[in-house]
Amino acid sequence: MAFHTRSGGGGQPQSAPTRVLFVCLGNICRSPAAEMIFCALLEQAGLRGRISCDSCGVAAYHIGQKPDSRMLAALQRAGIPYNGHRGRQFSPADFDRFDLIIPQDEENRGDVLSLARTPEQAAKVLPMSRWFPPECGLAEVPDPYYGGTRGFDAVVSLLRVSCAALLRELAGADAER
Ligand code: 4NP
Repeated sequence: MAFHTRSGGGGQPQSAPTRVLFVCLGNICRSPAAEMIFCALLEQAGLRGRISCDSCGVAAYHIGQKPDSRMLAALQRAGIPYNGHRGRQFSPADFDRFDLIIPQDEENRGDVLSLARTPEQAAKVLPMSRWFPPECGLAEVPDPYYGGTRGFDAVVSLLRVSCAALLRELAGADAER
């Protein structure tokens, strides 16, 4: 396995990671988009019973709020429905609740890693860029918050291909069980 796995315990083989948490700064643009896109892919693949996902932000600014209307509009243009998500803040308890924690940019990654208390917790944190197509030339998911419509559409496009690559990796690991 290429990344941290959840132990089956009792001498059983380790199982694939099944609980995925996407993280950004405010949890109103990038990470809820990743969550909704990944959720739609899980649905299409019939894997919602085996792999789950959620999202949160490292900051508290937007707790309880709906995603940014510009992001919801970009998702709608891409055919991705709003799932009712409301903003919430990352908690150290998320290290226990999730198998894979995916920050959208390097600052988010540093903030999450600063809360890890064990090497096992830190090993669950992998950047979204791990699943970028090499030709995109990016090292992180750009923050669209202070930009225009095209920035939101570009984030949705990048997350669609990246989430598909993530799902291929997880579904492959699941099939190896
Ligand atoms: P997100 O975008 O981290 O992708 O949700 C942002 C949301 C809010 C702010 C910045 C980025 N803000 O400064 O409030």
